[in-house]
Amino acid sequence: MTIRSEILGCGSYLPERIVTNEELSATVDTTDEWIRSRTGIGQRHIAADGENTSDLAFAAAQRAIEHAGIDVADIDLVICATATPDNTFPSTAAKVQHRLGMTQGAAFDIQAVCSGFVYGLAVADNFIRAGQAKTVVLIGAETFSRILDWNDRGTCVLFGDGAGAVVMRAMDEDETSASGGNGQGHNSGRGVLSTHIHSDGTHYDILYVDGGPSTTQTVGHLRMNGKEVFRHAVKNLASIVDEALEANNLERSDLDWLVPHQANKRIIDSTAKKLGMSVDNVILTVDKHANTSAASIPLALDVAVKDGRIKRGDLILLEAMGGGLTWGAGLVRW
Ligand code: UT7
Repeated sequence: MTIRSEILGCGSYLPERIVTNEELSATVDTTDEWIRSRTGIGQRHIAADGENTSDLAFAAAQRAIEHAGIDVADIDLVICATATPDNTFPSTAAKVQHRLGMTQGAAFDIQAVCSGFVYGLAVADNFIRAGQAKTVVLIGAETFSRILDWNDRGTCVLFGDGAGAVVMRAMDEDETSASGGNGQGHNSGRGVLSTHIHSDGTHYDILYVDGGPSTTQTVGHLRMNGKEVFRHAVKNLASIVDEALEANNLERSDLDWLVPHQANKRIIDSTAKKLGMSVDNVILTVDKHANTSAASIPLALDVAVKDGRIKRGDLILLEAMGGGLTWGAGLVRW
């Protein structure tokens, strides 16, 4: 019997408050036209005072658990991908685990910034394949509004707060076959077909936070050399999507959906063009959510599953790049 992970359900949560580009331009030296034309962003959600990453994460996890129709008692691993945890320690995942009413299983955070969800998918999938976990709640949750320098127009207009989650469960590979039969081959069944993650610390300082417990003993602010990050994103995402397809003997034309990290519409367009995919097959939420870092992929996934675009059996490519640099992809048959 070969085990793989099936994604049983998803959920997401966005803070109530929406800040439009227009509203931002009252306090930041920017315009709606500049933000839209350079990034595709039209608005972002911002967490309320006292609303923390764990609150967003918990709400998204609850919705994913409900959508998946599982019992909390069955969960044996909670992973939260975040670069904006409630506290330096313990993990935000431990807080979510407690709020879910769990004392069983394990909980920990993953920190790969905007690639956090794809990294989490790789870790969760490997835990499941190794037989060390059977039912995993994987969350991407961020409150980037708390680490932005609101005087730096080059970064503060780009990010938003939010959370998304999926429930993953161990399945016998034969039972995941899209057509229900046996012996359909590795890439015909449902679930996570493969994950691919990379990092290169050479570029640590083109996207980083200038604070931390061990350096400044402050939380710090996000700093980015946007042009350099953009250049690496286009290059690294082009190579990771090829790597994911080749590993599964799949062609670009086999893909039904691209669910990319939502940093910049121009980066997404470039990846879609490389894949020869029409904009109709790309899930785009950057206009409404801005860049929510580790939360952006599960948020986009949830939007497209709930509005009926993504259907059981569809082949989905997830990809992201972020600080580290880190980048990665996952191929999933829904
Ligand atoms: O999720 C993690 C990965 N992050 C990313 O993928 C972000 C990647 N980078 C980007 O998306 C783009 O580089 C940005 C959207 C951040 C910036 O776009 P750009 O085309 O690279 O602009 P730039 O930084 O070169 O700035 C161009 C001009 C500058 O003015 P001058 O020097 O040409 O006079 C900036 O001062 O735009 C100015 N500018 C702004 N103007 C109005 C920068 N930010 C703003 C702003 N409003 N918010």
